[in-house]
Amino acid sequence: MGTFGPAPGGSTPQGATARGWPPSADCQASGGAEIPLESPAALRYPKDTMTELTLRRPDDWHLHLRDGAMLKAVLPETARHFARAIVMPNLVPPVVTGDEARAYRDRILAALPEGMAFEPLMTLYLTETTDPADVAAAHASGLVKAVKLYPAGATTNSQSGVRDLSKVVPVLEKMADIGLPLCVHGEVTAADVDIFDREAVFIDSVLDPLRRQLPGLRVVMEHVTTAEGVAYARSGGPDLGATITTHHLVINRNHILAGGIRPHYYCLPVAKRESHRLALRAAATSGDTCFFLGTDSAPHLDALKEHACGCAGCFTATNTLSILAHVFEEEQALDRLEAFTSLNGPAFYGLPPNTTRVRLVRQSAPLPQPGKIATSLGPVTVFDPGFALYWKVEP
Ligand code: DOR
Ligand code: ZN
Repeated sequence: MGTFGPAPGGSTPQGATARGWPPSADCQASGGAEIPLESPAALRYPKDTMTELTLRRPDDWHLHLRDGAMLKAVLPETARHFARAIVMPNLVPPVVTGDEARAYRDRILAALPEGMAFEPLMTLYLTETTDPADVAAAHASGLVKAVKLYPAGATTNSQSGVRDLSKVVPVLEKMADIGLPLCVHGEVTAADVDIFDREAVFIDSVLDPLRRQLPGLRVVMEHVTTAEGVAYARSGGPDLGATITTHHLVINRNHILAGGIRPHYYCLPVAKRESHRLALRAAATSGDTCFFLGTDSAPHLDALKEHACGCAGCFTATNTLSILAHVFEEEQALDRLEAFTSLNGPAFYGLPPNTTRVRLVRQSAPLPQPGKIATSLGPVTVFDPGFALYWKVEP
């Protein structure tokens, strides 16, 4: 157990260009060949006999809500369909202490529109100076449900994360004692490790040694993107879980790169080749209790996505449930959707499943495309799965 590798240098996004889905005219004019990017699965969309589905209200076990104007704009998109969410702490500055988490929870609740119910489940951002006693107190008070490990430099606002794992062992030991889960962004950051290999290398060189050193530690592998991640989660026993995002069930790396760069499909960990997407689909639709939904819905202003150094993140809160119903229908696993969205996550976190329900009704005509989310800072593009959606959510 040691370092994750040197943090790569970043650059500051500024300015904007417009490019969306499907490929814009200027993209094609500049040489990007238009290729069919619809997933093969979408082409064999089955005419299932099921047209209505009632689920216990889902939870999102990995969500970015941000703060201020962005929080106000995106919170209703989640609260409309989800009862609870594990809220990521990678604000600037990050949410490190129990007091900071309490203040952030209050800001979230203050931003919730009247008449909407939503319970933010708070997390702390693990740093090399995190105080184990503060973590334990925040957990004991019921406020904090997990601690998030960001290898420094791995992703958005991870600069304050961990460089040397040995420095956080006292916190991790305390968490193992009290049963507080560690949510892990599982990628090494070493510049000489290919970005498509960073998850698999992390499992072998960091996660597995860590779990052997601290066998009582409960761990959630966040947003797994590889067949290796799926296999490791499956083999880990009851103290290991894994979240899977909506977008990683839909896109592979071709969607980002073939025929032109599509910044709204860029996220971290980056989508991998098709065989990995298929492994993720099999895992999510398997019903296995170790897999649950964590959307990693991560809003960024369009101006910062459509940029020479675009930010990582897909914003899926708005249409996640319609997309998931589509995916599960394609996989003929609609009967397992509730386990993925509403049962396995609460079971891992030791919380009761929700008692209220949502209804999904399959329409005969495609749903209208969601518009962009307007914020006072500029628009945010909603993830486009690249195929028509039919499942309407009736909250
Ligand atoms: O794509 C991502 N966006 N991955 C992360 O790990 C962070 C997130 C964000 O905060 O924007
Ligand atoms: Zn995230």
